[in-house]
Amino acid sequence: MDEQDETPERRAFLARASTLFMAGGLVAGYGACGAIGVRYLFPATGRVRRWQFLARAESLRVGESLEYRAPSGERIAVARRGEAGKVEDFVALSSTCPHLGCQVHWQFVEKRFFCPCHNGTFDPEGRATAGPPFEAGQSLARFPLKIEDGVLFIEVPMEALPRPGGAS
Ligand code: FES
Repeated sequence: MDEQDETPERRAFLARASTLFMAGGLVAGYGACGAIGVRYLFPATGRVRRWQFLARAESLRVGESLEYRAPSGERIAVARRGEAGKVEDFVALSSTCPHLGCQVHWQFVEKRFFCPCHNGTFDPEGRATAGPPFEAGQSLARFPLKIEDGVLFIEVPMEALPRPGGAS
C-alpha cells in the first residue's frame, strides 16, 4: 500500500471503525459477565414438573404396587398401603438408590426396599434403615400424588438431570 493511499479520511474511518469494534467487544464481554452473574445470583429453581396420569385408584389393591416410568426416564414404585379411599393410601418412591444410583426393589416378606449394590435397605416410607444410605442419612425420593374423580395422578420431572460430561 502506498503512502498516498493513507488519506486523512481513510485514517479517520479506520480509527472510528476500530473504536466501534473495540467498544462492541467490551459490551459483549461485560454483557456475558453480567449474564453469568445474574444466573449465579438467581439460579434456576429446578426441573420442570407436571402432573401425569397414573391409574384408576381402584385398580390398585392394598399391598399392590406398580412401576411407573416418568418422561424423564426415572423409575418410580407406586404402592397402595391403605383402603380409606384417599390419596394418603398411596406412596410413590423413586426406584433409584440415593447412594450410587442402583435400582432398588421391594421385598414383600421383609416389607422393605432393598438395594443389591451395597445392601442398602429402606422402610415402606423410603427412609433408609441400613447400609450406606442409612449412614449418609439418605432416603428414596418421594413424589407427590393426587386423586381426581377416582384417577391417580403423579407429579414428576419432565426432563432428566444432566449427567457429568453431557451424556444423557
Ligand atoms: S447404590 Fe444402593 S446402597 Fe449403594
